[in-house]
This record gives sequence, C-alpha cells and structure tokens, in this order.
Amino acid sequence: MIIAIDGPAASGKGTIARKLAAHYGLRHLDTGMLYRAVAARLIAAGASLDDPAARLEAARGLAMENLADEAQLRGPGMGEAASIVAADPAVRAAMLDFQRNFARTPPGAVLDGRDIATVVCPDADAKLFVTAAAETRARRRFKEIIAAGGDVSYEQVLADIRRRDARDTARAVAPLRKADDAHLLDTTDLDIEAAFRAAVDLIGGSTAAK
Ligand code: DC
Repeated sequence: MIIAIDGPAASGKGTIARKLAAHYGLRHLDTGMLYRAVAARLIAAGASLDDPAARLEAARGLAMENLADEAQLRGPGMGEAASIVAADPAVRAAMLDFQRNFARTPPGAVLDGRDIATVVCPDADAKLFVTAAAETRARRRFKEIIAAGGDVSYEQVLADIRRRDARDTARAVAPLRKADDAHLLDTTDLDIEAAFRAAVDLIGGSTAAK
C-alpha cells in the first residue's frame, strides 16, 4: 500500500503522514528532507544554491547519512534553501528513483511532499492534499519556532511561508498542486487528532473503492 500526501509548508502533512504510517504499519518518508539535505550539502561545500553544476553534484552524491541530522536540516533558512534547489529539474530527477524504490519496498509507505501524487507515485492507493490558510500555517510555525527558543516575528514567518508557497507553486517542473484524484483535507480548523481521523476516513473511502 502506498499513501501519497502533498501540501504546503506547515499544513500538518508531516505529522499526519507519520501518524498514518504508524496506524497502517507502513514506512514513512518525509521527502522535503531530501531537498533540505541537498541544500545542506551545498552550503557545507561553500557552493552557491544557484550554481547548477554544484547542485547536481550535491544531489547525485546524496547519501542516507546526509539525512541524519534532523535538527540541522529543519533549522532556520533550510526550508527556503530547499525550496530553491528543489526548483531545479535535474535535482528533482536525481531524487526520483530513491523515492520510488522507498515507496515500493514492502510493506509500502507513506510519502509526504509536494509532488508525490502528481509525479513520484501517481499510482498511489490513496492521495491526500493537506492544506490550511497561510495565516494559520504561519501561526503554527511561529509557535514551534518560539517554543524551540528561536527569535522571529509572526510577520516574518508569514512572509517566509508565502514566498515558499509562491516558489513551490510557480516552478515549471513538478509544482505544488493537488492531483485531480487526491482528496482535499483542509486543516485550518482542525487539531492534529481531528485531522488524522479525517485522513483515515478519506483513505478508508479511497481504498474501499478499489
Ligand atoms: O516539506 P518541507 O518544508 O520540508 O520541504 C522543503 C522544500 O523542499 C519545499 O519548500 C519544496 C521542496 N520540496 C519539493 O519540492 N518536493 C517535495 N516532494 C518535497 C519538498
């Protein structure tokens, strides 16, 4: 069984994906971590995020150990850096086989990202597009950053989210968009537990229909 979850930053898709994987006994891959790790490799090498040759080298040389430092990859500026390198079609192509192999390996997996239902796993058994109002997503992200001891304003977080949404949606290759056959799950007025239950209901409906 393969479950594809897409959506913008701070929509709740990562938490929902993790809970779904535990619920169905599947493996979980947060595909944003791949792009974050490519960006981190570039930064560590002192290369520019805008250098196509360096980007490709960083993407092709990506190894599992590059994904280990979760705190660093989720740190300040990494989402933006990941969004920049993720707009490069060559970087995206280099990530495809790994994601597809991960998805296909028994017993199957939950993958979350931006293009899982549209590009990576178009034949997934269930597809969800998880979203929420930008202000709500910014408020969630702002609270997380403050709780972790970070120093940022709500307005800054909202501006970051809007900029990232715009880049991820506007890029030419594999842009963020809802697949025609994906269920829409708007978490604006839902807490995590309610969002998870709604996701299970939607997935139950789509797998029963097959
Ligand atoms: O989900 P995230 O915030 O960790 O993702 C970071 C960036 O990586 C996101 O802004 C765009 C990019 N990304 C992507 O292009 N495709 C994916 N499947 C996952 C993430």
